[in-house]
Amino acid sequence: MAQIIDGKAVSAAVKAEVAEETAKLRDEKGLKVGLAVVIVGNDPASRVYVNNKKKACEAVGFQSYEYALDESTTQEQLLDLVNVLNRDDRVNGILVQLPLPKHIDEKAVINAISPDKDVDAFHPINVGKIMIGEYSFLPCTPAGVMRLIESTGTDITGKQCVVIGRSNIVGKPQAMLLLQKNGTVTICHSKTKNLKEICLGADILVVAIGRANFVTGDMIKEGAVVIDVGMNRLDNGKLCGDVEFESAEKKASFITPVPGGVGPMTIAMLMKNTLTAAKQQAGIE
Ligand code: GUN
Repeated sequence: MAQIIDGKAVSAAVKAEVAEETAKLRDEKGLKVGLAVVIVGNDPASRVYVNNKKKACEAVGFQSYEYALDESTTQEQLLDLVNVLNRDDRVNGILVQLPLPKHIDEKAVINAISPDKDVDAFHPINVGKIMIGEYSFLPCTPAGVMRLIESTGTDITGKQCVVIGRSNIVGKPQAMLLLQKNGTVTICHSKTKNLKEICLGADILVVAIGRANFVTGDMIKEGAVVIDVGMNRLDNGKLCGDVEFESAEKKASFITPVPGGVGPMTIAMLMKNTLTAAKQQAGIE
């Protein structure tokens, strides 16, 4: 039976580190840390995420600046706001909550955020830096996954790591981070043919495909570390991951629950990136 990885506890530890350093910077250097969070429209899931980000800012001692814009906001208006925030010294990090309404080009908005304030690490400059291992910010969810794997005491070096999902936000950067830790990495996706066979070879399995209960226990090697990035809502209203927990926990050595696994880590890593941004902008790091 697997040990359950407690994402809430690991996330609390990361936030405590950030809070301590933030207080120290304020007391010793008079530095304040600020995060701007921009949300466009009324997507209920986005609203929940943005509220959680604001709460986390308060908890670690950051200022948060929320810009809740109407669904009808034009791309030009949003780009104007991003440019204002790029120049605002109170704002160390800028987060534009995705997805954006269909009439706005997400790429254009991401590209407009100053790479120094891009705490999501979505800007092509930051993506490129991750490829060459010279980054300031790691994308929040993959960085959170790495921290969870680390919390199990697993050494990634030489291990077979399988990532299911190839999104720009999770799958692709996740593979890079595992590679940097000397894992042997395979990326699978919806068109992969012998998925079960590949999964059965995985010592570390990260699942981010966005399909409820997609990975079942018979696809998991005995003793594998299983990280479930999925967050799906079933017809009965219950949340579930991309991994079928009941069958998977019988095979894995460690497994994340949904909720309470990867989810809380994403926000903790966002706080960490915002602190890094503030320090860099102040010439401290
Ligand atoms: N929407 C879902 N996840 C994320 C995230 O990590 N960052 C942003 N900006 N939007 C999201």
